[in-house]
Amino acid sequence: MSDPKPKLIETAAGDDFAETAARVFADSLRGIESPLVILPTGNTPLGMYRCLRTRYKDEPFWKNFRYLALDDYIGLPVGDERCFHSWVARELLDHVGVPAANRIVFGSVDDGAEGVKSCLAACGSADLAVLGLGENGHLGFNEPGSAFDSTVRAVDLAPGTVAANAAYWGGEDRVPRRAFTLGLRDIARSKRTILLVAGTRKAAILKATLEGPVSPEVPSTVLRTMNNVTIVADEGAMGR
Ligand code: PGA
Repeated sequence: MSDPKPKLIETAAGDDFAETAARVFADSLRGIESPLVILPTGNTPLGMYRCLRTRYKDEPFWKNFRYLALDDYIGLPVGDERCFHSWVARELLDHVGVPAANRIVFGSVDDGAEGVKSCLAACGSADLAVLGLGENGHLGFNEPGSAFDSTVRAVDLAPGTVAANAAYWGGEDRVPRRAFTLGLRDIARSKRTILLVAGTRKAAILKATLEGPVSPEVPSTVLRTMNNVTIVADEGAMGR
């Protein structure tokens, strides 16, 4: 297996991290007429989204921008604030004028992955995948043990992921136990990828991602099998 090296950009914490991530995002999309872009939820991208919806609001790439969901809970009522696509809408899409028709999202029912599957079948791959990093190395809801050739599917959330998600919603009983996710193969086919990593609590998993054995036990090591990967990491995540 080849081991291409991700490009690593180290930033200060806070604004520098957010601004650098937004700049790398915008630079990745300039000149692409109708970009298909995978976007994450979580705390890590919030500063980048804030920067994109203010400083980069008038970029031409928003005109025909297509959002492809990375993952989402199964079983929530339509429009529930906990749905990940509602989160991305609140933080970014509603502010930059991406119409509903250009948001390719998971439905909340068992056959809810059909729209995402047909988009990938038609497009082949995303132009850009933006990802956060779980403390256990998950990408989307590809938890440890996910095969590198996995595709779109429903999964059970790992207990640690349920606990981490409880922080957003005020208790574990508010966190669904099942979710849809793009597979690692779907993500790995993206033409470019940006991994965002911030804070000291991510330092160990970032080190494992960059230097540990490439293995499905640490799903984020799939990034080392991919080309055109940029990691934006703040000083805390770099262990400084
Ligand atoms: P976080 O989540 O950005 O809130 O740390 C990242 C993830 O679990 O994928």
